[in-house]
Amino acid sequence: MSEVLNALRDIVGAKQVLIDADCQPFETDWRKRVTGKALCVVRPANTQEVADIVKACVRHGVSIVPQGGNTGMVVGAVPDASGEQVVLSLQRLHRIRHLDPANATITAEAGVILQQLQVAASEQGLLYPLSLGSQGSCTLGGNLSTNAGGTQVVRYGNTRELCLGLEVVTADGEIWQGLSGLRKDNTGYDLRDLFIGAEGTLGIITAATMKLFPKPRCQLTAWATVDSVQHAVRLLELARARLNAGLTGFEMMNQFSMSLVDKHFPERRVPLWREAPYCVLLELSDMESEDHARHSLEGLLEEAMGEGCVGNAIVAENLSQAQNLWLIRENITMAQANEGLNIKHDISLPVSAIADFCAHTDAALAREIPGVRLVNFGHLGDGNLHYNVQCPADVPHQVFLEREEARVNALVNNAVKQFHGSISAEHGIGSLKVDTLPKYKDPVALALMRRIKQALDPKGLLNPGRVIRV
Ligand code: FAD
Ligand code: MLT
Ligand code: ZN
Repeated sequence: MSEVLNALRDIVGAKQVLIDADCQPFETDWRKRVTGKALCVVRPANTQEVADIVKACVRHGVSIVPQGGNTGMVVGAVPDASGEQVVLSLQRLHRIRHLDPANATITAEAGVILQQLQVAASEQGLLYPLSLGSQGSCTLGGNLSTNAGGTQVVRYGNTRELCLGLEVVTADGEIWQGLSGLRKDNTGYDLRDLFIGAEGTLGIITAATMKLFPKPRCQLTAWATVDSVQHAVRLLELARARLNAGLTGFEMMNQFSMSLVDKHFPERRVPLWREAPYCVLLELSDMESEDHARHSLEGLLEEAMGEGCVGNAIVAENLSQAQNLWLIRENITMAQANEGLNIKHDISLPVSAIADFCAHTDAALAREIPGVRLVNFGHLGDGNLHYNVQCPADVPHQVFLEREEARVNALVNNAVKQFHGSISAEHGIGSLKVDTLPKYKDPVALALMRRIKQALDPKGLLNPGRVIRV
């Protein structure tokens, strides 16, 4: 193993090859579900160094775990326990290479933090719409590799839909120059789409060209109580009809998830949460004026109240109130983490099936595991719920997980299948769900995925044990 370490030091310099205790910050996943042991963490500064690292690892038969901001939810970016894997951190590839206002694109390296991309676009009067609670630390490469979603997908799509071109280091250390800013290019198989969402199992993304959009003239945020999931879905239908492309966010959260924010972030002062079992956060972006936006949003809420699907509602009066409403929603993840270890399900369903799914699965969980608490929230506008499960109040978190995780997962995943949904909407598979996926994915699709993996990474050195086993 010292030979590969020396080879890596020759490429990036000794300072950028971390070993022993220096690797610790890279070895535990964000949710603290797994701690691995790396042979080393290598920190290249450019694409050529990434390519040379991959070649050196191939020569020595050492596997590579790419890592961006390590905010992933499914244990995909940390090494296994063998002490033999190289963690390839992309954080030093952090240059914005080019912003092209006329083409409405930005080309940046994989380690650029999402928030920096948003700021760079905004400084040019443009919008980079990807928006996640982790935006202060997740990276462009990680967003692409997980095909991240977030809170603006209802209008702008997920990361895949924002990407026009990629630069990728292949499993044998070649550099694929696919950084096109083209919106149309039908010259054969779409390689870009293979690497997006591949969670580092097919290649290392080193840079990308992403779409930008006009910045809306004004944004308004509303917070509404609803007494059932069915009514939240009805509100979504009304919002789509009235606001059309102006609807840029539609999130739902249940009372227990809001109570966790109230408990762990009391400074947020969660509004209306005691009044109803669910609240909806919705955002309207408008290209005309604030008056126009306010008129549309208030009209929508009046109509919804008239129909009886909204109980009470507020519209943020200013930017800081709007930001606070969004922070409440974004803080659910952290509040739930502060509360203790939990079971996450990142599921998607046809919007028309969500109310029935929740009624069915809420009841089944309550019946099977009395006292269990649901942290049910998420991107209802995309049909994507974070249908998370927290232990009963009197059972220690760790004990609950050891005893019940498999049973809870089977119950929820079987219900997802029954209602024609997906067991991973936006977080990916990682190692957490790698053995669950075959139970729920079409066997022909799995076989094709395995053949793609074997074709692109025949030695199996890129993030092995993630997404699919070969
Ligand atoms: P990492 O966690 O470092 O890596 C994720 C995966 O991508 C790993 O498999 C890794 O090996 C691979 N990878 C990373 N970089 C590269 C690269 N350059 N080339 C090849 N493979 C690579 N996700 C959502 O989709 N929507 C949300 O709303 C959302 N909100 C979140 C809120 C919080 C508070 C937190 C902590 C997480 C949230 N996430 C969300 C999950 C997470 O932030 C995203 O999955 C994000 O895209 C991961 O980016 P990262 O840079 O941290 O990637
Ligand atoms: C979110 O929407 O907040 C995230 O996807 C993170 C989570 O699931 O907790
Ligand atoms: Zn989410």
